[in-house]
Amino acid sequence: MSIRPSPSRRTFLSLGAGAAASTVWIPRRVHGYTTVEVASRLEDGVGMSKWDLDTPALCVDLDRLERNIATMQAAAKRFGIATRPHAKTHKSADIAKMQLAAGAIGICTAKLGEAEALMAQGVERICMTTSNLSPAKIRRAMQLRKKSAGFIQATDTEENARQLSAAAREGGVTADVVIDVAVGTRSGIPPDEGAVALAKLVDTLPNLKLRGLLSYDGGAQHITGFATRKERTLANIEPNVRVRESMKRAGLNTEIFSGGGTGTYNLQHLVPGFSDIQVGSYVFMDMQYLAIGSEDGNAVYNDFASSLTVVGTVLNNRFPGRLTTDAGAKALTLNVPHAGVIGEPDADYNAGSDEFGVITFKSGGPAKTYKIGDRIEMIVPHCDPVVNLYDVMYGIRNDKVEKVMAVTARGRSQ
Ligand SMILES: Cc1ncc(COP(=O)(O)O)c(C=O)c1O
Repeated sequence: MSIRPSPSRRTFLSLGAGAAASTVWIPRRVHGYTTVEVASRLEDGVGMSKWDLDTPALCVDLDRLERNIATMQAAAKRFGIATRPHAKTHKSADIAKMQLAAGAIGICTAKLGEAEALMAQGVERICMTTSNLSPAKIRRAMQLRKKSAGFIQATDTEENARQLSAAAREGGVTADVVIDVAVGTRSGIPPDEGAVALAKLVDTLPNLKLRGLLSYDGGAQHITGFATRKERTLANIEPNVRVRESMKRAGLNTEIFSGGGTGTYNLQHLVPGFSDIQVGSYVFMDMQYLAIGSEDGNAVYNDFASSLTVVGTVLNNRFPGRLTTDAGAKALTLNVPHAGVIGEPDADYNAGSDEFGVITFKSGGPAKTYKIGDRIEMIVPHCDPVVNLYDVMYGIRNDKVEKVMAVTARGRSQ
């Protein structure tokens, strides 16, 4: 993956086309407000400028977020496939509810803690895409099943399936289960007869109800160039299609055949029997996804707009060719490609210090003159881990805070 933006990505950043605004330099007086102050101001019905927020501030442009959700839902409808968006990206009950309201058939979570936090805020129909192995987690999963009939749990070993069955019986529930069948080598049972045998076992174990299989191809999502992405996605999933066919021949339930992400949302419907896409990052987009290119040949993956930014403050401008900001690794993570500075295509953003970011300018220097205290806005390197660093996301419309959204499952990594 390239660290430096390609020319068209540079254009993208310079125009501000992928983020909330082209204006990142705010020469006005700024004053900081705490989260509580922002919330109480909104309770009074008074929004504030996002440039007045104290920083680093995680901001999501609501017009873009809403458009991304509508665009994905419309695309899925066109493709004849459902969406089951992954909440590992946003960890937000508000956004999960927006996705469900737009027509998603359910929500995915990667961690039990995420599922617990979201369900506590009224998010239903959750599919846990990760197997839960420890006795404590198995018990917690069955607690969630008790609370919500729409809860679905993935499994990928016979031992785990037997433990789920025992815990479901103990909890007095019948647990809906999907088999996590690997695409590649990350997680899941290999896509061979063992996977079919596991499905048969789940089908016969008491207190379990087999719903189908998951097949997420993490390695395909960020393949640069649509043609290669398509070829690899369809080739990689062939063994899983054969597993599903064997399951069907054996009379097993395959109503769920779920996977895919933002990079392959427009490919998964080409997979026979695929039921739904677990898209996550499309709500925000990030520098990693912008780099992969779209179907129409554009080097920028512009099917969805980048809605998520971090607003920071310039702390130091006194050293030639560089600026120091207040957004370092604890605000933007160390992921690559680096954060994109909106309006500054020649900037390289190094978030290598914990609390400080350092911007250097490659050739032409900055597009503007920055004073100490000026605000600066960045597209994040990779959305999921950045969101996990913040308690709240500021929902912005026309540069004003419209609502403050809790990062409901922030830090819920167990
Ligand atoms: C199992 C699973 N499904 C779906 C997704 C969502 O992918 P994306 O953010 O690329 O849309 C992920 C992301 O890592 C995942 O692990």
